[in-house]
Amino acid sequence: MVCLPGPSSSPSDSVSATMRRKLTTSLLSIGVFVLLAASFSFHVSRDFLPPAALNPATLTQPIDRLMNHAVHELPASLRRLQSPLPMDSVLLPDWEVLLLLPLNSSSAAAGGAKLFCLFHTGATSPALPAGPSSFRCSLPNSVRRVRPFYTPRLSGATSAAAPSRGQEDPPREMIRWSTRLTYESLSTAHDVIVFAKSVNHRQGIGRPAAGLRCVFSPVSGGGPVAWTIATSSAQEVFRCPHPPAADLSSAVPMRVSLATEPEAAPIPTVASYRTPRVQETDSKALPGRARVCACTMVYNVAKFLPEWVAYHAGVGVGRFFLYDNGSEDELDAAVSRLGSEGFNVTTRYWPWPKTQEAGLSHCAAANRDACEWMAFLDVDEFVFSPAWADSDRPDRSMMGSLLAVEPEVGQVSIRCLEFGPSGHRAHPRLGVTQGYTCRRRKEQRHKSVVRLDAVAHSLVNSVHHFRLREGFRTRWAAAGQARVNHYKYQAWDEFKAKFRRRVSTYVADWKETTNLGSRDRAPGLGSEPIEPRGWAGMFCDVNDTLVRDATHKWFSAAGPGGAHRMVWQH
Ligand SMILES: *[C@@H]1O[C@H](CO)[C@@H](O)[C@H](O)[C@H]1NC(C)=O
Ligand SMILES: *[C@@H]1O[C@H](CO)[C@@H](O)[C@H](O)[C@H]1NC(C)=O
Ligand SMILES: *[C@@H]1O[C@H](CO)[C@@H](O)[C@H](O)[C@H]1NC(C)=O
Ligand SMILES: *[C@@H]1O[C@H](CO)[C@@H](O)[C@H](O)[C@H]1NC(C)=O
Repeated sequence: MVCLPGPSSSPSDSVSATMRRKLTTSLLSIGVFVLLAASFSFHVSRDFLPPAALNPATLTQPIDRLMNHAVHELPASLRRLQSPLPMDSVLLPDWEVLLLLPLNSSSAAAGGAKLFCLFHTGATSPALPAGPSSFRCSLPNSVRRVRPFYTPRLSGATSAAAPSRGQEDPPREMIRWSTRLTYESLSTAHDVIVFAKSVNHRQGIGRPAAGLRCVFSPVSGGGPVAWTIATSSAQEVFRCPHPPAADLSSAVPMRVSLATEPEAAPIPTVASYRTPRVQETDSKALPGRARVCACTMVYNVAKFLPEWVAYHAGVGVGRFFLYDNGSEDELDAAVSRLGSEGFNVTTRYWPWPKTQEAGLSHCAAANRDACEWMAFLDVDEFVFSPAWADSDRPDRSMMGSLLAVEPEVGQVSIRCLEFGPSGHRAHPRLGVTQGYTCRRRKEQRHKSVVRLDAVAHSLVNSVHHFRLREGFRTRWAAAGQARVNHYKYQAWDEFKAKFRRRVSTYVADWKETTNLGSRDRAPGLGSEPIEPRGWAGMFCDVNDTLVRDATHKWFSAAGPGGAHRMVWQH
């Protein structure tokens, strides 16, 4: 939700966190791989196993107490969630379990039905739909003490009344987010992009691509059927050619993973592989391609979304891509309402912790055919040009006018102005643009609008800008030409809620006492979630009503009784 510090600011906190996590990478991940590769069968080829993998406790667990089916006692209406394929689960921070269904099963279909995660001990916890093909549940306290952790079943009942015996599927261990993991993949016409954590340092230089392989395996087990050598390796993003279709023929559905040594087993994966669909056309001439789109990582922003979307659509953003970081608010309802009002908003479920750069890489690669330029903004950031202030109404060519640049410009970077609470003690009824009008004097950091064709093959980014292909350069918008109004320090309750679970990558949680010197911290704010004295008046060096006045002119309507309201108010 913020303009982030540049790569020059020290990433040491996150790096040491990564190191700590790396230390916990253990036999477990290898054990998980064994199970993945073996799937339904315990007859794992010894040749395929590093010797260290032969001893995990998993292999000696009595399996009669463990789950044999992916689903259990589901109501008839949900039987279609049943699948002969095994489910995987990932243990996220805070004991949160992400249960991944092997196929799209529109977890929304679970609708009113109460579902549960049923753990091998018989303990259960409520399972909530999360994205199109997964559920989230909490690892019950009683299970946290019983290692290893096994993938729960999805159940329609709160208890494991009849743990069925006799079906000798091997138990599948939960994959821990703290280990190496291939978590997403994206097939383009030319290659497959694989997202994997703990292979490279998140912000550092990657391992050489030539030493890495993408490995393709059927979900149903039996081990890899094809591999290709990577062409790019940077951050958490890897690219490989597609394998020849003939190598995959009957093997669907497929998973893709990454192997870091030629002879090594691939790292655990939950990423599906899709064969490329269409041949890419001449991208310049794609019909229906929007001139400018916007992409953002969101968490509980439903309340702010209508204003942000209406404003940016008004100035020419044609499509909006939201990467939903496990929102627990009414995001879906807000998005479908915006859709019914004619706005083009798409959400993608992106539950992976601290993967904001990877999410933006995904967004840049996935939408090349849909958008010429992509603005990478947060929903508390509004692009504005002082040149627009005199217009009577917003105009869809406005954003485009900022991008009327030389052909070798692949990215336009715009500086951010940070607004303070401006005296407010609660969310301003008419919206952030109307309420927050006092800001810090100095510009802070920047955000970028990127020409997607100019993005480097590596997809490297620092959230606020991308690396460009050879031959392209970044252009800085002059302050008088464009700015980003960043409503960063909102009324205390909003600020507190936002920072409790922030989408930022570089900065430790604001409650932690680490990283107190970060530029991303609110100056004067300690590490306690207690309202600092005088908060409502802080970060207020300059009254700046430029955007308030323009948006008021553009988006207000006479309401009942003569009271005016903004178009985004419901
Ligand atoms: C699964 O659902 C997603 C999002 O709804 C969709 O984009 C994708 O094509 C679906 N995949 C399959 C195999 O149906
Ligand atoms: C959204 O935008 C895309 C590309 O600009 C277009 O193909 C699609 O039809 C639009 N959808 C709606 C609902 O307007
Ligand atoms: C999503 O939220 C979690 C929990 O607060 C956080 O740890 C994670 O970094 C966020 N994800 C992304 C992609 O930033
Ligand atoms: C901003 O405007 C208000 C109201 O006019 C005024 O009281 C305040 O002192 C101004 N603040 C700054 C920093 O100029």
